[in-house]
Amino acid sequence: MLNIALPKGRLGDRVYRMLKEAGYECPALENPDRRLIFENPEKGVRYFWVKPSDVTIYVERGTADLGIAGKDILLEYRPDIFELLDLKTGVCRMAVAGPAGFEDDRERTLRVATKFPHIAGNYYAAKARDIELIKLNGSIEIAPILGLSDVIVDIVETGKTLKENGLVVLETVCPISARLIANPSAYRFKTGEVQKLVSQLSRQLRDSGR
Ligand code: PRP
Repeated sequence: MLNIALPKGRLGDRVYRMLKEAGYECPALENPDRRLIFENPEKGVRYFWVKPSDVTIYVERGTADLGIAGKDILLEYRPDIFELLDLKTGVCRMAVAGPAGFEDDRERTLRVATKFPHIAGNYYAAKARDIELIKLNGSIEIAPILGLSDVIVDIVETGKTLKENGLVVLETVCPISARLIANPSAYRFKTGEVQKLVSQLSRQLRDSGR
């Protein structure tokens, strides 16, 4: 049995559809109720819905053999997992954003608000730019508007949130997408099953032109 942690929400729904098309369906999961664990012994899969930022915890500890996590979470928390496949969904980018026309004055420490202090810290360290990190948990876009920070480092998907708050992308930090990840020992002990799932998903990605 393969235990798979799915991120609750739109991304998880999309990835479950991919798994279903790859032959790993689980009819119980498709009946909307409030249960969080579903299995299909015939296909050898057990799925559980978890908070997206908790997927890596389940996979790192081996409670889940496999999971789906955004590259943003992998870069920020650097969990001890194997990254097996880029699922080419949940595509967005990590970006520096701020008020239009913002010019960085290198004489001053740059104040950066973000949910991703590690990613932001590494990005500016590589540019040898002195910054003050302000760790927030959400609604990052209002930080520069209210003067809490000069810029933000955050995820941009459609760009709608930035636009509606009068901000623009100033620099792209890196591209982000959903990744299939594995617990390292599960990968060793369930190699056959894991590789079969990976090759089915890869074939499906190829066939759909992704
Ligand atoms: C992310 C991000 C932006 C928004 C960007 O937030 O922090 O606020 O999505 O998407 P857009 O470019 O399509 O507008 P999320 O929805 O994850 O909510 P959160 O801030 O509560 O984490």
